[in-house]
Order: sequence, then structure tokens, then C-alpha cells
Amino acid sequence: MTPGMTAEPTSALPRGRVTFVITDIEGSTGLLRRLGDDFRSLMFRHRELVSEATRAHGGHVVGHEGDACFCVFTDAAGAICACLQAQAAIDAQAWPQDVRLAIRVGVHTGEAEPYGDSYISLAVHQTARVSAAGHGGQVLVSTATGEAAAGRLPDGCSLRDLGSFRLKDFPQPERLLQLCHPGLRSEFPLPRTLSVRGHNLPRSATSFIGRVDERARLGQLLRERSLVTAVGPGGVGKTRLALEVGGDLLPFFGDGVWLVELAPAHDDETAIRACAYALGIAEEGERPLLDSIAAYLESRSVLLILDNCEHLLAIAARIAGTLAAAAGVRVLATSREPLYLSGEQVLRMDPLATQGEGGELSEAARLLVERIHSHRADFTLDSRTAESVGEICRRLDGMPLALELAASRARALPVGEIALRLKDRFRLLSGSARDTGSRHRTLRATVEWSYETLSASERLLFDRLAVFADGWDLAAAEAVCAGDGLPVEDMADLLTALVDKSLVTYRLGFPASDDHRYGMLETLREFAREKLHAGDSLGVQRGLLAWALTMARNAVPRITGAQGPQWMQRLVLEQDNLRAALDIGHRLGAHDPTIRLTTALAHFWIKRGRLQEGIEWTQRAEALPSDDPQARAHLLIALGRLLRGSEPARVESLLREALRLAIQMNDVQTRVEALKQLTTCARDRGDYAAAETLLLEQSQILAGVDDPYRRFVVDTELATLMLQQSRYAEAVPRLRERLAEAELRGWRFDRARLSNNLAVGLIEIGEYDEALRLATAGADTFRELGSLEGVAHVLSTAGLALLRKGDIAQARRNFVEVGRISLEVGASHLAPEALERLAAVEIQTAGNEPLAARYAFAADALYAEVGYEREPADKALRDELQARLEGCLDGDLLCRIRSYAMLQARDVLSEAVGARTP
Ligand SMILES: Nc1ncnc2c1ncn2[C@@H]1O[C@H](COP(=O)(O)OP(=O)(O)OP(=O)(O)O)[C@@H](O)[C@H]1O
Ligand SMILES: [Mg+2]
Repeated sequence: MTPGMTAEPTSALPRGRVTFVITDIEGSTGLLRRLGDDFRSLMFRHRELVSEATRAHGGHVVGHEGDACFCVFTDAAGAICACLQAQAAIDAQAWPQDVRLAIRVGVHTGEAEPYGDSYISLAVHQTARVSAAGHGGQVLVSTATGEAAAGRLPDGCSLRDLGSFRLKDFPQPERLLQLCHPGLRSEFPLPRTLSVRGHNLPRSATSFIGRVDERARLGQLLRERSLVTAVGPGGVGKTRLALEVGGDLLPFFGDGVWLVELAPAHDDETAIRACAYALGIAEEGERPLLDSIAAYLESRSVLLILDNCEHLLAIAARIAGTLAAAAGVRVLATSREPLYLSGEQVLRMDPLATQGEGGELSEAARLLVERIHSHRADFTLDSRTAESVGEICRRLDGMPLALELAASRARALPVGEIALRLKDRFRLLSGSARDTGSRHRTLRATVEWSYETLSASERLLFDRLAVFADGWDLAAAEAVCAGDGLPVEDMADLLTALVDKSLVTYRLGFPASDDHRYGMLETLREFAREKLHAGDSLGVQRGLLAWALTMARNAVPRITGAQGPQWMQRLVLEQDNLRAALDIGHRLGAHDPTIRLTTALAHFWIKRGRLQEGIEWTQRAEALPSDDPQARAHLLIALGRLLRGSEPARVESLLREALRLAIQMNDVQTRVEALKQLTTCARDRGDYAAAETLLLEQSQILAGVDDPYRRFVVDTELATLMLQQSRYAEAVPRLRERLAEAELRGWRFDRARLSNNLAVGLIEIGEYDEALRLATAGADTFRELGSLEGVAHVLSTAGLALLRKGDIAQARRNFVEVGRISLEVGASHLAPEALERLAAVEIQTAGNEPLAARYAFAADALYAEVGYEREPADKALRDELQARLEGCLDGDLLCRIRSYAMLQARDVLSEAVGARTP
């Protein structure tokens, strides 16, 4: 809905910061078709209910258009109360002809002035987009409203963060929050927005200046050419322009714009990985990662920004060349040198113009003045200061980074003084040709000049910060850089001083890192690194290793816990620093901490699907000498877990060796852990008898140990093993016992998981209703714990129960939701399961058999792709499906569907979860 609705006369609409609410009836066209004239009365009654709720909470009805209502509130909390009341009233109303009327509601807060008796404001359009993204019965709230109502939500209400989404016509993604309340429905499919995954471009804290022509030209080039490289000296503004252009082009790339930072990469492998990680692509067995990336991009529309390619020209060229070959992919590289690829379009970047046109300030001067303002609000540009500004710009060749550094001096020096000092300093440089070399020298001299103004402590910190391969937060800087001349309590002030002097950047918007992070521009990092390594860098390097070890030990075990996704995000954010720490450990020969850090990170690599990287690091660590048998046993276990899919025979011997060490040390925990992994191996081989024996052995060892949780885990495994062997009569009572224990002890995650497993068992013995009850409880717990993947598992189980009961429509909704979640969280094994179960749904409806076949074959392809074995129940399901498909579809047709679906499995999945939403 857009403005221009038939407005009710309203005398005094609020102005300034207001909250808009737009509601809209779900499926109104269908209702109109079905009800004919009765739809009018229903629509009027719905309007009355929304209007009553609005007025009851201090709002105004601005207007109606068709089945939409447009309301405004001065108070965001009032708006939310009204939405709650409106949804409840609509839900409670008995609608004619058994209609279940549902409205979607969008709420957004922004600045607006009334215009006549309505509003013309971008905020209204945005509210309409938020509303359109919702589902019937849902209230979606923008972040602005969430913030405006913070701390004042009505009792029992909360806002659930659904993540970032791109709304039509709004290039920046918006975080959408769902209003939750016991009286509202809580489960909905994902918001109906343009694309779920938009971009990973960082938000910039400073304004972008000028570059109008370059910006337009780069945008244009990227529409025509598949590979464009922005080339220029360090600090000229390549990255900044690339990010800006990336933002401009967001609407043209349905699958997003992705920034790949190549600066921290140091060889081919790490460069390729950086790409894969930015795109969220996991490794797939033996397949070269670059192939996986190329396959992923094949049918997508993506802009990739490869930033800082200069130190890895050959591999950057290979990556860019491979990726740019895909029809919908564009690559924008930034580099101090071209990549020298045929078909590459080079855009050479000059510094900002230092001569203004027609009496206007030059671009360089605008940048300088803006940055001076951010340091000194009272700075005014008059004829005197303007002259100095012009002088500084010329001296600094219009190099943006140099200008920013100079601007920071304005805190303590008048601009006239800055100009004078630069003149003195750069006497030697002036007069030289304006080429890349001279620009480089100018910049270098400016950096030196800034560096010299630092206090001894600031300098020390600046140098030490170069040990981080990527950004850092205050706590990390304190842990790594303090000591030896730098008191920890001074760190915050010193960092602030470096930010003030533009030597360190400070960025907001890192959800996993208390929302802020420091960093260094590449040119400055190189300079700092030189200084660091010219002095005694050993202490900081050891500091980074120690910090990484603490960080990994603290974070990694939590990635499977309640706050799992946040901890995962945190580790992902730190991964370049963690890798740097591992490298340092090897270089310094710090064997023990390196082995421990590698072991601690193994679970992260596994969970993140980065097996190859994990294997490489772990094998490197395995080759190190160690005097600590326990650390070695843990490393062997970690390596065993990493190699599980690729070298099962070797895994067995690694684990046996770990077991031997554990027995020798009389270390019960490690012994049980090794046995546990051996159990997994046995299960992987399908040797259930051996698995059972190993579990019983663990159970025996644990009987003599006061560790109820481990015992519980082993007993649960035993029961689950029986479930996998279809020994339902044995499994179900055991699972019931474990569930009761988990409930009693308050182990919520296990309780949720057990609810799911028990439900699976119950379905097999025909107890559908109890299975559904358990699944619902499990889903609630997973949701409270923030585990979307858990929710998906339970929804899938519930779907199976519904299917068996004959509730086809609800079963379908469940599986679609599971498929969506699998796409969202990247849980690769959930996707084929969802598709296959959807196939089982479709085969129930005459006429849908070809669709069922398509889903089933696509599921086969996806199962093969992730190398995941079906559980017995799913095996049976697949066999049954096959028999029915062969029974009702002609062999030739089946063959054709099969070859299409196997090739286009991912498209089939998207189609299944996108198109079949009711
Ligand atoms: N047009 C601009 N408007 C505002 N700030 C700019 C502009 N161009 C560059 N800057 C600022 O100047 C600094 C250096 O720019 P940037 O990091 O983009 O340089 P670069 O060419 O990528 O350097 P490197 O080769 O070292 O990576 C940054 O702080 C950036 O924000
Ligand atoms: Mg750069």
C-alpha cells in the first residue's frame, strides 16, 4: 500500500518522529472471489476493529485503501499495543462462512510531516514494505520502532529478531523483528522479501565525497563487463569507492553483493577460502573449493568485490577469471596493480581533484574540511583557512588517506600551521612528477609525520596492533598488546587517541563483538608491521597466541549451546586472527599452545564445514613434538573427527592410539571421549553391534565416576542406536527415561533433542498424537534456546507424524519451513530430508506425481552431494516413494525428470520452498 489512500478527515495528524502502522488482509483476492459481496461487510468490520484498537491506544486512522488500513501514532509503544489488540480482536471475531480472516501488520518509525490529511514520506513506503513482508496473523516491526519502544513493551510482549532482509526499493537491508505474545501465533514462514541474503558490506562511519564520474563509470562498466579492476596506489580510495559502488548495485544482484577481503590471505588456499567463506560455501569432500564456488555461482546473480589483490596477483587473477566466467557474476577487484587478465577492464584511480571548478571547493578540499569538522566542530572556512586548506590538499596530492591523517592534526593545530609544517616537510618531494611513485612517497611521508606525533605509548600500541591479521575489539587489544610498557588500564584511551588521529578505524555494526570493532587500513597496517618487526615483537606474538587459545577454548564449546549462533559468528569474525596465531605458534616453535589451539579449533572447523582447512592445521600440529600425552591424545581425537568422512581406516588407528594414551595416563574423560569417537566410526561403518559394545564399555567406565551428564549422554546414545536399528520397542521406553531425567535436571537442549528422538520412535509405533505433542514441546524449547536448526528437526519429525495421520496440508507446510530453514542456516543434511518428505506429501495428491518425482530425485542428488546416509525410516520412505513413482509414471518420463532434477537440485529446492507456500 502506498500513500494517496482515501483519507478520513483528520484535524491534527502528528508530525516529527511518528510510528506508522499499515495492516492488510491476507489472501484478500481469494476471499473476494469466494465471498463476492459479503467480502465488503467483512472488510468493513475488519476496518472497525483496527480503528477501535488504534484509537484505544492514542493513534489516528489516516486512511483506508481497499483492504488496507493506515494509522499513525506519536508513541511507538502505543502502536505496538494497538497491533496486539487488533490481531486479538480479528482472531476472536466469528467471521461469516467459516472464513479465518488474518491480517499482516507492519510497523515502522521515522520522521514525517503531514501533507494535507495524509503523509508523503519515505517512512510510509518503508512501513508498507515491512507490512508486505509479513504473513497473516503476524506483526512485523522495524528496528527503528523496536528501539523507540525499547523497555516499554506491553506485558508479556517481546520482539524476536528475524534477521536482515531486503525490502523492495530499499537498497539497505532492514532487520525485521516479530512481535511475540502468548496471544499471537508465533510460527510463520520467513518474511516475504526480495532476498534473504543481501550483502556483507560494512557500514561506513564517515561520509563519501565526490567521485561522481568514477562511481557512475564503474557502475556502468560492471553492467557491461564481467571483471573490472580499480587500480591505484595505496590510500587513493579504491576500497572505499568499491564499497560505495557495491551498495549502488545491490538492487541489480538478486543473490547479493559480497566483499572478500584478500589482505589477510597469504597464499592460494587462504585466498580461495576467503571467497568461499564470504559466500557461505562449505567444503565438499575432495572437490576443489574453487570448483564448488564456481558451481554455486553458476546460476546466480552476484557481485563479488575482491579487495586488495595486489599481493596475490596470480591467484586473484585465477579466482577472478574463474568466477567472472559465470553469466550472472560480476567481479570488482581492487588492486595496486592490474591483474593482467584478458577481458579485464582496468579503471585507474587518481587521487581526488585538488582544483575546484567554478569557485566550488575541490573534492580533496571537501574531504579535508569534512574530516577537520569531525575533529573540531568549531572550524570555519574563511578566506584565510581556505588558502591553507588548498595548500594542504596540493601538498598531499589529494590522496584521501593522507588528507584524513592531516585532518586529525587539526585537533591541536590551526590549519595554517598544518600547511606550514607540511611545506617544510615535503620540500624534497614537491616538484616531482605526479605519478604513482610520487604519490606513494607523499603518502609514506604523511604516515611518518602522523606517526612521529604519537606519544611513545601510542606508538608502541600502534606497532603492536599490527599483530592482528584483521580487526579487534578492546578486550583483545588489552589481552594481546598490554604489558611491557603499556598498562592495561591505558589501552582504551590509547586506542581512542589512535582513532582520533585516523591511524585506527572504529566501526560499528558487528553483532558478535559488542557491536564495535577496531581495524587498520591496509597501507597503515603495512607501515605498522614494518615498525613492529623492526623492534622486539616476540612478546606481542606470544600474546596473540595466548589470547587465541583463551578465546577458542571459551567460544568453541559454546557454538553448539544455547547462544550457538552468536558464538559461531564471533569465531568467524576472529578467524583471520586465529589463523595468524596458529602461524605464529608454528613459527615460534611454541609447540604446546599450538597443539592446544589446534585441538580447540577442530570443533569449529567441523561445525563450519571447513574440514580441509582443519585437517591441514591438525596434521601440521600432529608433526610437532610434544611432552604432554594428554594434549597429544586430544589432538589425535580431533584429527580423527576431522578425517571421519575421508579416511575412516586411519581414523580408527588415530583413535586407538588416543585410547592407549588415555589408559596409560588413567585419564577417564579422554578414554571415554576416544571410545565415543570409535563408536561413531562403528556406526558410520554400519556396524551397530560394535557400536553397542563400545557404548556399553563407556557406560561401565562411567558407572564408577561421578559424572551424571556423561552417563546420561551415553545412555541416550544407546537408546538412539536402537532407534536407528528400528528396535522401537526397546528404544521407546529408554528414550522416555532419558527424557524424564533431562527434564528433572533441567538439561533443556537435551530435553529438546530427546523429545525429537522419542517422537521419531513413537511415529514408528503409531503413536502420532503423543509424537506431535512432544514435537511441539521440543520446538518451543529449541526456539527459546535460539536453535533454528533444532526447530527444523522437530518440525520435520512433526511433519512426518502429520503425514502419517493424513494431515497433508499441514505436513507440507512443515516441510517447506524445514527446507527454508535449511537454506537459511546452511544445514546441508536437512535440505534433502525436507525435499524427500515433500515428495512423500505430493505423491498423496493425484496429478502431483511428477512434482513428487522431481523432489525425490533432487533429494537424491543433495544427499549424494553432502555424503549423508539416510536414517532407516527415511530409507523406507524412499523405497516406498520409488515403488509408487514407478507404479504411476511412465519410465521414460521418470528418466527425464530424474536427469533434470539431479542437475538442478538446488533450484528444485528453492522452487519447493518458495513456490509452494500457501
Ligand atoms: N571519496 C571518498 N570519500 C570519503 N572518504 C574517502 C574517499 N576515498 C577514500 N576515502 C578514505 O580514505 C581512506 C583510504 O581509502 P581506501 O582505504 O579506500 O584506500 P585504498 O586505495 O583501498 O588503499 P589500499 O591500497 O591501502 O587498500 C579511507 O579512510 C577512506 O574512507
Ligand atoms: Mg583497500
